[in-house]
Amino acid sequence: MQTGIPLFPENASTFATPVDTLYVALVLVSIVFMVLIAGLVIGFAIRYRTRPGSEGAKQIHGATSLELLWTAVPLGIVMVIFVWGTKVWFQISRPPAQAEQYYVTGKQWMWKIQHPTGQREINMLHVPINQPIQLRMISEDVIHSFYIPAFRVKRDVLPGRYSTMWFEATKAGTYHLFCAEYCGTKHSQMIGSVIVMEPADYERWLSGAVAGESPRDQGEKLFAALRCDTCHTGLQGARGPDFKGLWGQKVQLSDGSSVTFDEDYVRESILIPTAKTVVGFQQLMPTYAGQVGEDQILSLIAYLKSLSDPAQGGAKP
Ligand code: CUA
Repeated sequence: MQTGIPLFPENASTFATPVDTLYVALVLVSIVFMVLIAGLVIGFAIRYRTRPGSEGAKQIHGATSLELLWTAVPLGIVMVIFVWGTKVWFQISRPPAQAEQYYVTGKQWMWKIQHPTGQREINMLHVPINQPIQLRMISEDVIHSFYIPAFRVKRDVLPGRYSTMWFEATKAGTYHLFCAEYCGTKHSQMIGSVIVMEPADYERWLSGAVAGESPRDQGEKLFAALRCDTCHTGLQGARGPDFKGLWGQKVQLSDGSSVTFDEDYVRESILIPTAKTVVGFQQLMPTYAGQVGEDQILSLIAYLKSLSDPAQGGAKP
């Protein structure tokens, strides 16, 4: 825990140092130019002030070398900032393939979180240290924003569209979790904690938490309970497409266009089945809007995804 007035939040993820270094560099560049410009303005105002008998300014027109200098130097500086900032941004926006998938649902006014192993929490997120964690997030109502200052990550959580973020915690401890988007009267109470634990402590926590099924297994049950399997039988001549090996693939649609079989497409097809029809199939599917919540759609997605993951008994795409 910090004492006194903290200048920076704690440094607890792999992003903290690169983000802070860039931030400090930007502040330093700003200070250098502020001092330079303000100093020259004040200095020149004093040195060249009107005095009795002074003859006024002598105008000059054009100074190519000077103009080249004050174009090239700022261009160089902003290009360095651009390349550097882009590098950090790519690092933050590209989750590594081995990242564990956690699901986050935001609603007025709480965060609901589900672990890949099925445990659920509200306004708390327990994670193991030194493990890339990816959050797939959606809102049930308005725009929220998932913000962990100690990790230097913040991403809006939107209704109707998945957003994702990732981090790798580097220091065990308890850190603030905020909603960083004004979302109604109790926005300021939409807060929680992220608890970073040693792997062994995390395993102990997992076994002690209310277990529950994994999102994939819940999805499989739901798939049967909602009778999805009556049309998506996976057999020849079925009324709906077979999902085995389909994840991440391009799907041809009846209007000639194509779409990637991913989270957003699956969610849309469950809620608005008429939006995009796969070529060779008829428009028979009813909407499941109002019958399934965002959590359940996430489970269905986890199940459909597993059908293309050989490690989980699925087919190779
Ligand atoms: Cu949710 Cu502010």
